[in-house]
Amino acid sequence: MDQNTAFQRIQELSRQIEHHNHLYYVSAKPVISDYEFDQLLEELIRLEKQFPQLKQPESPSQRVGGTITKEFKTVVHKYPMLSLGNTYSETELREFDERVQKIIGDVPEYICELKFDGVAIGISYENGVLVRAVTRGDGVQGDDVTANVKTIRSIPLKLANGNYPASFEIRGEIFMPRSSFDKINDTIYRQLQEDGYNEEEIADRLLKNPRNAAAGTIKMQDSKVVASRNLDCFLYFIYGENLPFKNHYESLKQAKEWGFKISEFYLKSKGIDGVFDYINEWNVHRFDLPYDTDGVVIKVNDFRQQQELGFTAKSPRWAIAYKFKAESVSTKLLEVTYQVGRTGAITPVANLEPVQLSGTTVRRASLHNADQIEKLDLHEGDYVFC
Ligand code: IVH
Repeated sequence: MDQNTAFQRIQELSRQIEHHNHLYYVSAKPVISDYEFDQLLEELIRLEKQFPQLKQPESPSQRVGGTITKEFKTVVHKYPMLSLGNTYSETELREFDERVQKIIGDVPEYICELKFDGVAIGISYENGVLVRAVTRGDGVQGDDVTANVKTIRSIPLKLANGNYPASFEIRGEIFMPRSSFDKINDTIYRQLQEDGYNEEEIADRLLKNPRNAAAGTIKMQDSKVVASRNLDCFLYFIYGENLPFKNHYESLKQAKEWGFKISEFYLKSKGIDGVFDYINEWNVHRFDLPYDTDGVVIKVNDFRQQQELGFTAKSPRWAIAYKFKAESVSTKLLEVTYQVGRTGAITPVANLEPVQLSGTTVRRASLHNADQIEKLDLHEGDYVFC
């Protein structure tokens, strides 16, 4: 095959592979078999080996990884990566709404979204090509994890033709679906058991939860391992100059058309009442989702109103996160001490490795009586739920 024909074929294969990637990982509507998909990818990899000068930085062959990053480059965010004010209380959410109404002098339209429990990422596109992906870091600067992010199949490496801005940054949350998390832990468990570790040592080495797993995975040095761990990503915000939308809702719809994975569960609500309905619904249905969410994010839809509301030192005044109360959380039992009450009654107290539960730090828990300790067969170093 001559170079020109190879070039044409590489272009065509890349386009087809990205198209099928999108159908599979974003739309969940694949039209070819895994086998046929692998054939296309193999042909592309073969041609790129034969004509290395034709390999493009946005080639879908990078989805399989292979880049080793010894040290991640630090990159200053063009737009600081702010976090959101958050609350667990309905009263505070009503107060947020009152503040908003006071400033804009109107009943706002809100967009409610799920709060995905993962790690924040900012992905930059130049002329439709993914050029950089940076973690939050301290909000001012983060780590360049581009090679690892390119292995996430739902993130487009090259946008299909469309009217996207020449340069923009899209922000989102990288997460690990629960099924991937369970599968990886299962493999780790078997391996450690085979290597002769006991249950306690194994428990210490397993991935703690999908969020930690996502955070750890995105900072791995070998992008092949990252590729094997099936991370995913929902996008929820666009930064850029002279963007062609008037409100957040439009930006989500556009981002979806450009090929990004946008959660389908957002809701537009005029006024705060619909926001409460959304929260109550998802407080229950979140357990039916294949990934973890830890709350709801409420954003003022209109960009002019967002501008009017502005920012505090740390977070935008036009958005807030309402966090779901954690059901329960596990932590390590450090020791059991005994507390003598005013009446002389002795209560055993569990001293715990401090853990966050619904906005407070839990350090101690009453065990009621000594029988309880025996019944639970509690020992120091055990993991307990509170
Ligand atoms: S909006 C200025 N939307 O929660 C806009 N954040 O402290 C800020 N998160 O930093 C982000 N789901 O890492 C937004 N639907 C969502 C989100 C979301 C999860 C994360 C994100 C953010 C943190 C809030």
